[in-house]
Amino acid sequence: MTALDIVFFGGTGDLCLRKLMPALYFLYRDGKLPMGSRILGLSRGHVSRADYQYQVLEKLKLYLGEKYDGEVGRTFATLLDYRELDIPDQKSWATLKDYLAPVGAREIIYYMAVPPTLFGTVCAQLKQHDLNPINSRLVVEKPLGEDEQSAEAVNDILSTSFEESQIYRIDHYLGKEAVQNILPFRFANRMMEAIWNRDHIDHVEITVAETVGVEGRAAFLDRAGILRDMIQNHLMQVLCFVAMDAPTDGSADSIRDQKVRVVDALRPVTLDNIHDHVVRAQYGPGNAQPGYRQEIADQDIAGTGETYVAVKALIDSERWQGVPFYLRTGKRLSARYAEVVVTFKAPESTAYAGAPANRIIIGLQPDMTISCSMAMKQVLKSADDLGHHNFTDDMLAGEAVRIPDAYEKLLGDVMQGHQAYFVRHDEIIASWKWIDGIRKAWVAADLPLHSYEAGSMGPEASDALLAADGHTWYSKEKEI
Ligand code: BG6
Repeated sequence: MTALDIVFFGGTGDLCLRKLMPALYFLYRDGKLPMGSRILGLSRGHVSRADYQYQVLEKLKLYLGEKYDGEVGRTFATLLDYRELDIPDQKSWATLKDYLAPVGAREIIYYMAVPPTLFGTVCAQLKQHDLNPINSRLVVEKPLGEDEQSAEAVNDILSTSFEESQIYRIDHYLGKEAVQNILPFRFANRMMEAIWNRDHIDHVEITVAETVGVEGRAAFLDRAGILRDMIQNHLMQVLCFVAMDAPTDGSADSIRDQKVRVVDALRPVTLDNIHDHVVRAQYGPGNAQPGYRQEIADQDIAGTGETYVAVKALIDSERWQGVPFYLRTGKRLSARYAEVVVTFKAPESTAYAGAPANRIIIGLQPDMTISCSMAMKQVLKSADDLGHHNFTDDMLAGEAVRIPDAYEKLLGDVMQGHQAYFVRHDEIIASWKWIDGIRKAWVAADLPLHSYEAGSMGPEASDALLAADGHTWYSKEKEI
């Protein structure tokens, strides 16, 4: 592989030091960073190269703990350099140009670890200074807009300086090993594809539960709400992987084409049906934890954003007609986990009616697991049992595996020019269309903002959403 120049706008920021540098450290340690590569941090502050190296190593020690190896750290640090850059200031760009000279001789990766408000200026400056050769790549991360219109605007900004093939839009859920594994699990196992449709599947649940509250991000989260912060991107990505048709080949676009088809086929949520499709809520105090409004009381924040959303999504496609996909995510819930639960229909034979439904449970975090529950005949205890069918669930569980950090995988893909696990522009727009429809309908319908206790699994209204279809959210505790 050609040597790379990896350039971080926001080189001293939290994202860079907490997530990106550790990812690069591991890629370097595992010999995945091409020989001769360099890493450049850019920021406004006046920091010497030695100070930057020291700062990065200190953070690596802090965040990696026992996984940090001093020897590796010392050589990794020799790749690091720092330049002062005041983004709006024309003159300071000459410094970057000097560093990268001759521009285009090496592959360049620009990582925008800065707020989206700066994307426009950075892209324009890169173009103006001829720093966007075709062998350069641009990595950006959400929020990429807050509705369809602003997402288009962000894209216009990026696409004036970079081709779509140069742009890598990160959704870190696509970097999670367990999320990536959904596709081979479905398409490399013939028995799965045969049953993965409305003939056999009754409904699907996708849960991303968090125990954290709004932390230092209340201002952003209150405005965005969890629908835009989590459903539009992370849960939508998982939904696409669970619901998409098989890609025609292994190329990035054949995967991305199929994902867009899923999003396009989502039935719009409207004023007429929103009450049967969406529940929004905010946490109140509970289990010795403060409520959302108490947490933000000393800040100048409206306090109207939702911290929990449940959505019943329907996909109008041949494969999924009539199969509800229930999505839920929330903050300050009782446990932190993400999983997909696929529940199958009851057996055809009335002689076996009453058997517990088959389930495939794909654990995404904290552990990567796949388990399957099957109805089995229970060992007969007495002659009285003859003629009765007794069933038990047998969990055929896969082994729990450590999930490598998403950024490590995604940065590795950017280095190799693999775009399959990055979100294409048309998909972002399609998903915003659907989300905008929900938001429009909930404003028009004045959808209630329910309350749930901190440390619980969400509001009762969310249970009622499924109960209306005769279902309940899957919970391991309940099954045991
Ligand atoms: C981020 C959201 O994108 O994902 C956060 O902005 C959320 O609000 C986080 O906490 C969840 O990511 P993970 O990997 O911890 O599930």
